[in-house]
Amino acid sequence: MRLKIIAGNWKMNKAYGEALMLATEVAHDSTNTKHPGLLTILAPAFPFLSAVSRSIDGFDDFAVAAQNCHFEESGAYTGEVSVQMIISVGARYVIIGHSERRNYFHETDEVLLKKINVALDHRLKPIFCIGETAAQRQAGKHFETITAQLKNTIFHLPENSIGNLILAYEPVWAIGTGVNATSAQAQEMHAFIRKTISEKFGTQISDSISILYGGSCNSKNAAELFSCEDVDGGLIGGASLDHLEFSAIRKTMIAQLTKEKSVLGKKLSGN
Ligand code: PGA
Repeated sequence: MRLKIIAGNWKMNKAYGEALMLATEVAHDSTNTKHPGLLTILAPAFPFLSAVSRSIDGFDDFAVAAQNCHFEESGAYTGEVSVQMIISVGARYVIIGHSERRNYFHETDEVLLKKINVALDHRLKPIFCIGETAAQRQAGKHFETITAQLKNTIFHLPENSIGNLILAYEPVWAIGTGVNATSAQAQEMHAFIRKTISEKFGTQISDSISILYGGSCNSKNAAELFSCEDVDGGLIGGASLDHLEFSAIRKTMIAQLTKEKSVLGKKLSGN
């Protein structure tokens, strides 16, 4: 079974004390609601990675992610943060290619591939984001856009490293807008992404890669989105800033997992 993931992308929000409080509350909310096969990831801003990592110490179903990294190992890159620095403060994941990085910081597929490569070289797992704009979808070019994003980046990776990658489908028009993709739109695109990966790398790899949905996901629409066969969790922005809301989304995924387990149990017992 694929790993299910609920990841909170805090973006440039929260000051030190607030970030620590949020991490502590989310971890506390999770007491007694562990589920095998579910990982919760918190992605605070760089200055808080270390403290947030320490605050979830002992919660083995939690991990911390950076929101970005530089593609060079070290050197004269004022203001940048390397993969080794991120690892050294306890983070195990890094978000790469978020649409805000692509738009505001002009990160191209070429740069993103370099970032993915350096992260994988150091065993920092990328959560790689892809997604089309509203204009691309309106023009009927959403599948084309996603195919190009995949071909320009992860298609260049060796087969044996794909297993260390997580994908996030985040339609740009859904990010922070309050308009989420419908479950039909999400399932259609997630299945397409999986098929595209299977054509390049084979079904063993495509069946095992977790593909998260991101874009205005909240506790109200999570159940419908997570019930889609190819949606393996969520990359949550705004709704991850409130511990009750984020924990409710996490519990929705647990409910989905419990439901799937009982359906499987019934199938196996022939009922
Ligand atoms: P949102 O952001 O949930 O606020 O739409 C998602 C993201 O940007 O990862």
